[in-house]
Amino acid sequence: MLNFVFKNPTEIIFGKGTIAQIDARIPRDVPILLTYGGGSIKGNGVYQQVTSALEGREVVEFGGIEPNPKVEVCLKAVELARSRQVRFLLAVGGGSVIDATKFIAAAACYEGPDPWDILRTGGRDVKTAIPLGTVLTLPATGSESNGNAVISRRATSEKLPFHADCLFPVFSVLDPETTYTLPAEQVRNGIVDAFIHVMEQYMTYPCDAPLQDRLAESILATLIEVGPRTLAEPQDYASRASFMWSATLALNTLIGCGVPQDWSTHMIGHELTALYGPAHAETLAVVLPGVWAHQLAKKEAKLRQYGQRVWGVATAEAAIGKTEEFFQSLGMPTRLSAYEIDADQAAEAVGRRFTERPVKFGEHGDIDGDAAAAILRLRA
Ligand code: NZQ
Ligand code: ZN
Repeated sequence: MLNFVFKNPTEIIFGKGTIAQIDARIPRDVPILLTYGGGSIKGNGVYQQVTSALEGREVVEFGGIEPNPKVEVCLKAVELARSRQVRFLLAVGGGSVIDATKFIAAAACYEGPDPWDILRTGGRDVKTAIPLGTVLTLPATGSESNGNAVISRRATSEKLPFHADCLFPVFSVLDPETTYTLPAEQVRNGIVDAFIHVMEQYMTYPCDAPLQDRLAESILATLIEVGPRTLAEPQDYASRASFMWSATLALNTLIGCGVPQDWSTHMIGHELTALYGPAHAETLAVVLPGVWAHQLAKKEAKLRQYGQRVWGVATAEAAIGKTEEFFQSLGMPTRLSAYEIDADQAAEAVGRRFTERPVKFGEHGDIDGDAAAAILRLRA
C-alpha cells in the first residue's frame, strides 16, 4: 500500500425529508447564491423545499446550468456572485450543477488574468474559494463529496477536470426521494458512472491493499444488485437509497487511498463528449472495455480477481465480457456505432489532442495519444 493522506471534510445528511436541515448549516446574514440546472427542481418540489428552508435570507438565484457545464455560462454567475458579495453557494441538482458551482466558487476568488487557466492547470493554483453546500438530485458523479469538477468550453470544444481541496462541499443533502423524477436514462447513466469510478481506482495491479480491494468490490457488487432494481422500480426507496450511497462512496476519495489509479477511461471519455456530445457515462461504457482489452497483460491479475470475486468467472476475458453484458442489461450501449461516431476519425482526433497537450494516463503512465487512438479503434 502506498502512503496517503485521507481528508474528506464533507458532512453527508442522508435520508427522507432532510432538505430542511440546510437551514442550520448555512451562515446567517450573508448573501447566498442558489444555483440550479434546467428546471427539474421546479417540477419535483425540491426548489420549494430549498427556498422554504432558506426563508428570511438574502438569496440570489442562478439557473440554467446545462449538462457538461460551460465556462462561458459559469462566468456570468461569477460576475453575479461578485457584484452581490455572495458568501455561500448552494448547488441544487446533479453533477453538472455542483461542478459549475465549484468553478464559480473558485473563479470568484481567482486573481489570475483568465479563469480558464484554472482548468488548464488542473486547479493547481486554487487555494481559496467561496464555501459551498449541495442538495444532490442525481446519484452518479460523487461531486457532492469530493473536490473535483469538470468544465467545458464551448469556444474550443474542450472538457477538462480540475481539483482543489477547498472545493469539497461543506455539506451535502442526499434525499433519495428527490431522485424519483429522474428519467430512466439518467439512472442508467448514474449506475454506470459510479461503477466506473470504482474501476478507475481498482482495476490496476495488486498492491497489498486488501481492504481497498474489498471496499471497491463491495460497491461494485451493490451496484450490480440494486442497479437493475432501482431502474425497474424507480420509487422503491430501499434500492434507490443504496444506489445513492454507493455512488457517493464510489468517488469520495476513500477507496482510492494508497492504491494506484487509472483515469484513462474518463480522460478519453471527456474528449468524446467534448467532440461528439454523448453523455458522460455513455462515453465511459464505450471506452472501458477498450482500455481493458488494450492493457490486458498489465491488468490481468486484477481482472481475474474481479471476475472471480464479483462475477464468479475464472478469466480476465470473461470478466470483461460480464462487465459489458452488465452495461448492456441496463440499456447502455457499449460501441461507438451506437452514437454514429466513426472509430477511426475519433481515434485520430482524440489521439492528436493527447499528443499535442502532451498527456499520458494510466497507472503506468503509458496511455498516450497513440494508445488512446488504438483503444478507440477497438470500440467501433
Ligand atoms: O438541469 P436539470 O433540469 O436539473 O436536469 C438534469 C439534467 O438534464 C436532470 N436531472 C437531475 N436531477 C433530476 C433531473 N431530472 C429529473 N429529476 C431529477 N431529480 O438530469 C440531467 C443530467 O444532469 P447532470 O448534472 O448533467 O448529470 P450528472 O450528475 O451525471 O453529471 C454529469 C457531469 O458531471 C461530470 C461529468 O463530466 C458531467 O459533466 N463529472 C463530475 C465528476 C466530479 N465532479 O467528481 C466526476 C465524474 O466522473 C464526471 O466527470
Ligand atoms: Zn465519471
